Amino acid sequence: MAKYPVVAVVGATGAVGREMLKTLEQRDFPAKEVRAFASARSKGTRLPFKDTELVVEELKEDSFKGIDLALFSAGGSTSKKFAPLAAQQGCVVVDNSSAWRMEKDIPLVVPEVNPEDLHWHKGIIANPNCSTIQMVVVLKPLHDVAKIKRVVVSTYQAVSGTGQKAIQELENQVRQIFNMQEVEKKVYPHQIAFNCLPHIDVFLENDYTKEEMKMVLETQKIMHAPEIKVTATTVRVPVFYGHSESVNVEFFNKITAKEARAILSQAPGVKVLDNPRENIYPLAIYAAGEDDTFVGRIREDDTVEHGLNMWIVADNLRKGAALNAVQIAELLLIKELIRVP
Ligand code: A2P
Repeated sequence: MAKYPVVAVVGATGAVGREMLKTLEQRDFPAKEVRAFASARSKGTRLPFKDTELVVEELKEDSFKGIDLALFSAGGSTSKKFAPLAAQQGCVVVDNSSAWRMEKDIPLVVPEVNPEDLHWHKGIIANPNCSTIQMVVVLKPLHDVAKIKRVVVSTYQAVSGTGQKAIQELENQVRQIFNMQEVEKKVYPHQIAFNCLPHIDVFLENDYTKEEMKMVLETQKIMHAPEIKVTATTVRVPVFYGHSESVNVEFFNKITAKEARAILSQAPGVKVLDNPRENIYPLAIYAAGEDDTFVGRIREDDTVEHGLNMWIVADNLRKGAALNAVQIAELLLIKELIRVP
């Protein structure tokens, strides 16, 4: 009889954690048992899973006894403390926070791009930043053909990327504005309703935000291409689900928009939606709840020798977080890179 791992979702009550449970269920992930963990605040909360409910347990230092695989999405400080404890106990961690992504001996994996990196994991695998994942899924097949020189990206990121509290904040602010009440700001430094904030994560010494530098450094690590130049402006917009990106790519070799469309229509995890005359292009509201990364508005940039512009959209909670993590877990099982009792 096949043996399946005991799986934990850490941060199960959060926006990504809930999506992880949904994704495990939808993909019928072969688990012996699924357990849900969060902070003491959520102990006893019931979360729907398959035809039953999971009772949320408080995450503690000894929580990983008997757990073979843990999907973490509970913030960087929780990961820093608990992921090594889990790994020491033989549990493999797929971590959605930014805590481990740039560590040399920790693989940062997008299954469509660099699945081979899973082979050198030492117990922790990092799930990349949401904006980076959807961009590299599209860039990799183009890079393989025409070699990328430089990328200029601007993002339009949904509030769900900040978590459950930010979803609530946008909802509350819209209601407050329509009721002519004062707008409450708790999560973001400025009103997010009917506004765009060029500020995601903290500002660094170089005046970029941490989110912008994640896009630069993670892209180079995942694609094994430190020579690719990437510059990013990341913007929070009043959208609930789905990140959109305007991406300008300069290549070393010739590639036409038509060739790019043909390559991307064969690329794993990518769907080309590109018929502007019929008003067909990727949109966040339609990408929400979908697994694919959508690309459209593919057109040549005549200001450089070999350049393309494109518009890339994906569900940030699914491909940008939960789905990518579950796909990593599936590969770990298939490649037998995980302990199964
Ligand atoms: P809780 O709901 O008990 O606070 P989001 O990103 O949507 O804000 O979700 C964050 C997730 O991380 C939630 O499930 C939250 O649990 C969990 N979390 C936050 N801090 C801790 C902690 N110290 N230990 C365990 N889980 C935590």
